[in-house]
Amino acid sequence: MYTPSRAHAESVATLHGTPAFVTDASTLRAQVRKMRAAFGAETKLFYAVKANYNPHIVGVLKEAGIDGIDAVSPHEIRLALELGFTPDQVLYTPSNPSDDELRYAGTKGVLQNLGSLSEIRRFCRLFPNDRVSVRICPEVGAGEFEQVTTGNVESKFGIALSDVDEAKRICDAAGVAIVGIHCHIGSGFYEASALSQAMVAVAGIAERFEDALFIDLGGGFGVPYRLEQSEIDIEALAASARGTLADFTARTGRALTLYLEPGKYLVSASTVLLSRITTIKEKGGRTFVGLDTGFNHLVRPAMYGAYHHVVNLSKPEGEAVPVVVAGNLCETGDVMNRDIELASPEEGDLVALLVAGGYGSSMSSTYNMRGTAVEVLIDGDDLRLTKRRQTYEDLTGLFEPK
Ligand code: LLP
Repeated sequence: MYTPSRAHAESVATLHGTPAFVTDASTLRAQVRKMRAAFGAETKLFYAVKANYNPHIVGVLKEAGIDGIDAVSPHEIRLALELGFTPDQVLYTPSNPSDDELRYAGTKGVLQNLGSLSEIRRFCRLFPNDRVSVRICPEVGAGEFEQVTTGNVESKFGIALSDVDEAKRICDAAGVAIVGIHCHIGSGFYEASALSQAMVAVAGIAERFEDALFIDLGGGFGVPYRLEQSEIDIEALAASARGTLADFTARTGRALTLYLEPGKYLVSASTVLLSRITTIKEKGGRTFVGLDTGFNHLVRPAMYGAYHHVVNLSKPEGEAVPVVVAGNLCETGDVMNRDIELASPEEGDLVALLVAGGYGSSMSSTYNMRGTAVEVLIDGDDLRLTKRRQTYEDLTGLFEPK
């Protein structure tokens, strides 16, 4: 997990202020390389851009060799196309899309992963004789938290296994070819077993669908958030995937391409949220370290109880003190880490919240009228501002004049 040097942190704070998302380009490249090395050139990596849509970051991933983008909204599709991905390098995997959204993706020539019979019916009416991919619910879920576990029966996602044949009948009647079978079991799993099980379910469906060219297992590859956590064994996952694909070919005489949609795995470890300690106070026997950021910039701790490690970059050699790290929003739940030791924290110190590249900036809000954080990309000695801070005018400018 990337931690900026004290010198880099001070440069960012001096040049652009805090809070700031600071991203290391070499970590982004390393993550693409690791995934590519495990799964090989034959697997197509569609970056789930919802994790972080900073165009500079997507640009680094593109140069590092990702095959495309998994988009979930028309604007994400548009961004992918404007960044130079061709329509066949973009997948659209929406949740409860409107007809207008289906129409937008279809007219852009983007293949859609659709997860309900309603969407399939509406797509077939809009685009007869076209191609589609079907998102199924594999009845296996795994993820860091209940809120991000997706492939289980209770979740809102995917077509029930009992409805899959109906999806095929609807497509057959409209001359629509089902070219892909998709599933996404959840975000942040650390074991191979659930994904392997889901893959068997998906391959079994592909066997009955004669037009299927690929299976898409979505994303969800977990990343370490705690220092003592180990990396997910993606080599083992890749080996298991190769086995399932080989079995499929042995049984059917057909070959399937494997698609993946990693988000967190590619971007999370590359970025920290750099912040300054504004206030320290003792209360109820605890030391509260108050920052100039909060859940408006990194909502994962407040929303899921997620752990983000915090380090004091200004005092690398300081004495460890148990503290509660709190944000600057007017909410009791605005706590970034309840149980951590910080090295000799003092007001004015620069701290970093680690592993903040995935679902940090992209889930930011402007609560309390605090603008979103600046973003900086560090590439070797090059330190570049990629997103400026929101101003009062940015925040108020969308309202009609009173
Ligand atoms: N594909 C599909 C269809 C998805 O729904 C998602 C994530 C991904 C790929 C990428 O998953 P990843 O590799 O990033 O785990 N805000 C939550 C995560 C929500 C994930 C939503 N779907 C968090 O901060 O943990």
